[in-house]
Amino acid sequence: MKEDFLAYQAQTTPHPLAMEISHASGSFIYDVEGNAHLDFVAGVSACGLGHCHPKVVAAIHEQTTKYMHVMVYGEYIQQPAVDYVKLLASFLPHPLETTYLVNSGTEAIEGALKLARRFTGRTEIVAAELAYHGNTMGSLSVMGYEARKSAFRPLIPDVRFIKFNDGKAIEQITEKTAAVLLETIQGGAGFILPQNDYLKKVRQRCDEVGALLILDEIQPGFGRTGKLFAFEHYECVPDILVLGKGMASGLPVGAFTASHEMMASLQYGPKLGHITTFGGNPVIAAASLATLRELTESDLIPETLEKEKLFRNRLKHPLIKEVRGKGLMLALLMENVEITNYLVLECAKRGLILFWLLFEPKAVRISPPLTISYQEIEQGCELILQALSAYKQ
Ligand SMILES: Cc1ncc(COP(=O)(O)O)c(C=O)c1O
Repeated sequence: MKEDFLAYQAQTTPHPLAMEISHASGSFIYDVEGNAHLDFVAGVSACGLGHCHPKVVAAIHEQTTKYMHVMVYGEYIQQPAVDYVKLLASFLPHPLETTYLVNSGTEAIEGALKLARRFTGRTEIVAAELAYHGNTMGSLSVMGYEARKSAFRPLIPDVRFIKFNDGKAIEQITEKTAAVLLETIQGGAGFILPQNDYLKKVRQRCDEVGALLILDEIQPGFGRTGKLFAFEHYECVPDILVLGKGMASGLPVGAFTASHEMMASLQYGPKLGHITTFGGNPVIAAASLATLRELTESDLIPETLEKEKLFRNRLKHPLIKEVRGKGLMLALLMENVEITNYLVLECAKRGLILFWLLFEPKAVRISPPLTISYQEIEQGCELILQALSAYKQ
């Protein structure tokens, strides 16, 4: 299988991890040789309920016996999507009431940027240095990391970058700004939390100059940080909320939510302001609905903070310089890139899945399923400590 994988499936790095997958269940992924791998990555924050959660599988199965795709987005009334957006709205503060369902995080960002330009009639987008919002042309344009985008220029014009958490830089948001786009917690940059009321100050500045605030919750969203959405920690409600990853427990999905009035502007001038064939797909909506119900009817979300404490208590080692992040969105900061690479690859050999972050080469990602047990956390931390103790400089 590996030869065919390398020959026929497009690759994005010269050295893919290339584990051959047999199946996955709960906190474990099994390879074709029968080895179990404890998953501290959860499909890069996408499998919040672990692998193949029975309630999600049942919802998908039930929906596939009824219908799987009947029309492009927005024309027909399909119960899974309607039930989902209604339930989602019940957990969101005013004015976040109307949701557009799409196929991926990056498409949700594209939709949010289009909506902001359309609604304000302005063009400038302010984004953050080291931000990651996806990889299509629009979201690439707001990525704050030149080395990964210069080869694809020209990108969309009128994007200005400010430093995340820099109170002074907020002044660069002006009457020309259509929207400020921020990750509530910066992911690729190294799991950087907003500090000193930063998001509140950005919100205030946006209100002063009539700019919209878009928060990208694609990674921290759906319970990972101890609240359903991370913005709830920071007393700051965005005008447009962008969702993805953990929303459908591992199926491809994205969404953006705004006020009814704002979202209505996608219906005229021009009409069909955003079009998608598969957005709102009933099977994926059924999976999203089962996921949201399970997250909000269980103790999984508050438990993430208890699980974070266990990680922080266990992961003490001279080679770990810092544990960053919140809830089950954690990063180990190592002294140098060699140790980071060693740890990820050595743990892979020992049956523990870890991963890198996009723009912080010293960071090791820990974003396990929210369903991970305390015993599994102990087991994985022990493997990390054993690997670090075996490190030879
Ligand atoms: C914060 C953030 N925004 C957007 C995206 C893009 O989402 P997708 O890969 O589903 O397009 C990601 C994916 O890693 C992300 O972490």
